[in-house]
Amino acid sequence: MEGNFIGKDVYRQHFHPKDYIKTYYSSSSGNQEFSNLLKFNLKNLHKAFTLDGIKGDTLLDIGSGPTIYQFLSACESFREIIASDYTDQNREEMQRWLKKEPDHFDWSPVVKYVCELEGDREKWEEKEKKVRRTVRQVLKCDVTQANPLAPLVMPQVCCVTSQFCLESACQDLPTYCLALKNICSLLKPGGHLILMTALKHNFYMVGQHRFFGLYLEQEMVSSAVREGGFDISWSDLATMQFAPSVTDCKAIYALVAQKRSTI
Ligand SMILES: C[S@@+](CC[C@H](N)C(=O)[O-])C[C@H]1O[C@@H](n2cnc3c(N)ncnc32)[C@H](O)[C@@H]1O
Repeated sequence: MEGNFIGKDVYRQHFHPKDYIKTYYSSSSGNQEFSNLLKFNLKNLHKAFTLDGIKGDTLLDIGSGPTIYQFLSACESFREIIASDYTDQNREEMQRWLKKEPDHFDWSPVVKYVCELEGDREKWEEKEKKVRRTVRQVLKCDVTQANPLAPLVMPQVCCVTSQFCLESACQDLPTYCLALKNICSLLKPGGHLILMTALKHNFYMVGQHRFFGLYLEQEMVSSAVREGGFDISWSDLATMQFAPSVTDCKAIYALVAQKRSTI
């Protein structure tokens, strides 16, 4: 079954941030057990930033959505983080957490889990403060534009991260490769790309709304990254089982790559 591409404006109309977080990132029925998806993401980000020591001045996260889990390890390694997303309500939901506004989502169990990976679960409040200090901007972006941050022109950054955005935003492989090129134009030569991709899926649900997912296999992603001018440092693949009514995604692929100096 092929998912029908719906275009970015459907995100504006139908992507409800709280439904999205609840479905994919909440701990189930009040216990502290997170989804395998979230654990996989957090462990790989911990490996990249904390164990492998990827660090620098500015990190740009593309298609951040309403979530902040992707900044929990990175905030220890970068002076500033810039978040970005196409959809207004996702940027607003993230800002609610950053500004501690009423009704913000409680990420503290996830923050504690990352602190535990780092060796001290008790430091979670300090880490929340650090994330709030380090995420300096939450910008509008569109990965289908040559400059995804246009009209803003930004100096190239040390690290670009993106989780599950390109396969949601692109209707076919050529568009995916172009979007990858667009976001990587924002990265310095020698800089790192950290990409998480949902594999072998056609759709994912947010509340009652079905969103398109571009069907990708591991080799399609790694080829696009290599052909985009990167050397892959390491990658990790995990099979996933979701309720069939939620998504037909079969696996998640994490990849860390370094931009070659000459393309
Ligand atoms: C599946 S969500 C991923 C959110 C988050 N990165 C995560 O790890 O859960 C896909 C995100 O891509 C964003 N998006 C869709 N089309 C986009 C586009 N053309 N440019 C930038 N972001 C886009 C959506 O607003 C949404 O936040």
